[in-house]
Amino acid sequence: MTQPVAFILGGGPRIGLAVATKFVAQGWSVALGRRNLGASVELKGVMPVTVDVSSTQSVETAFAEVEAKLGFPTLVVYNAASLTFPPNQGDPFSVSPEAFAQDTSINVTGGYAALHAATRGWEKLRESDSVEYNRRGVFIATGNVTPFYPNPFATSLGSGKAGMVHLIELGEQEYKTAGYRFYFVSQVLEDGGPVPYDAVDGNAHGEAYWEIVQGTVGKVTWDVRFAVGNDGSISYQKG
Ligand SMILES: NC(=O)c1ccc[n+]([C@@H]2O[C@H](COP(=O)([O-])OP(=O)(O)OC[C@H]3O[C@@H](n4cnc5c(N)ncnc54)[C@H](OP(=O)(O)O)[C@@H]3O)[C@@H](O)[C@H]2O)c1
Repeated sequence: MTQPVAFILGGGPRIGLAVATKFVAQGWSVALGRRNLGASVELKGVMPVTVDVSSTQSVETAFAEVEAKLGFPTLVVYNAASLTFPPNQGDPFSVSPEAFAQDTSINVTGGYAALHAATRGWEKLRESDSVEYNRRGVFIATGNVTPFYPNPFATSLGSGKAGMVHLIELGEQEYKTAGYRFYFVSQVLEDGGPVPYDAVDGNAHGEAYWEIVQGTVGKVTWDVRFAVGNDGSISYQKG
C-alpha cells in the first residue's frame, strides 16, 4: 500500500502545523489547507493547498487536488474556525447577523462540506475495491468546550462548534457499519474547564490525534477531551 494521506483544513501555525508535523514524522503524506499559502511554514512532506472553507466549492476543489496529487485522505482534520467578539459586553446577540453568518460558513458549513467530501471519497474507495479502503476513514474536528459550557464571548464560535458536535455524533451513529470514525476533540484543563487561548498545546494535539487514529486511546466516543499535564503528558477525560 502507498503512504496514508491526511488532509488538514485550516492549517495554521498552532494546531494545524503541529498535527501535520506529527503525521509526517510517522510516515504519512500530509496536505495542509488554508487561504494564505504565503504564510505557510515549509515542512518537508507537507503539500500546501489553497482552500477557503467558507466556500463549499473551494472545499470540493481542494479535496480533488489532494486526491489527484497524494491520493484520497484516510484522515481528515477540520481545524478552521472563526470568532467575532460581541461588540457590547454582556450582550452576546450584539454580533451582527452578517458576521454571524460569515463565521458560521467557516465554523460549520465548511465542516459539513468536508464531511460530505470525505464520506463520498471513502465510499468510492470501498466500491472500487481499493486496498486503501482497508484504512478506514477517520474525521477529526478540532473542538473546544463551548457547546457544553456556553461562553458569552463565543456567540458565533460556540454555535458553529455545537453544529459540528451534532454532525460528528451523527457520523459516529450512522457510519459504524462502514467502519468510519468521527471525533470532536477538545483540549481542556485538568478540571475539565476551558483551556485559556494561550495554553493551547499544538504538539499535544498532534500526539492526541495520532493516538486516536491509531486507536490506542482506549474506549472513547466521538467526544474526546484531553488535558496536558505540567510534564506534557496527556490524560483523556470522560466527556
Ligand atoms: N481547546 C480549545 O479550547 C481551543 C482553543 C483555541 C483554539 N481551538 C480550536 O483550534 C482550532 C485551530 O485554532 P488555532 O488557534 O490553532 O488557530 P490557527 O493556528 O490560527 O489555525 C487556524 C487556521 O485556520 C485557517 N483558516 C481560517 N479561516 C479559514 C478559511 N476560511 N479557510 C481556510 N482556512 C482558514 C487560518 O489560516 P488562513 O488565514 O491562511 O486561512 C488559520 O491559520 C480551531 O478550530 C479552534 O476553535 C480550541
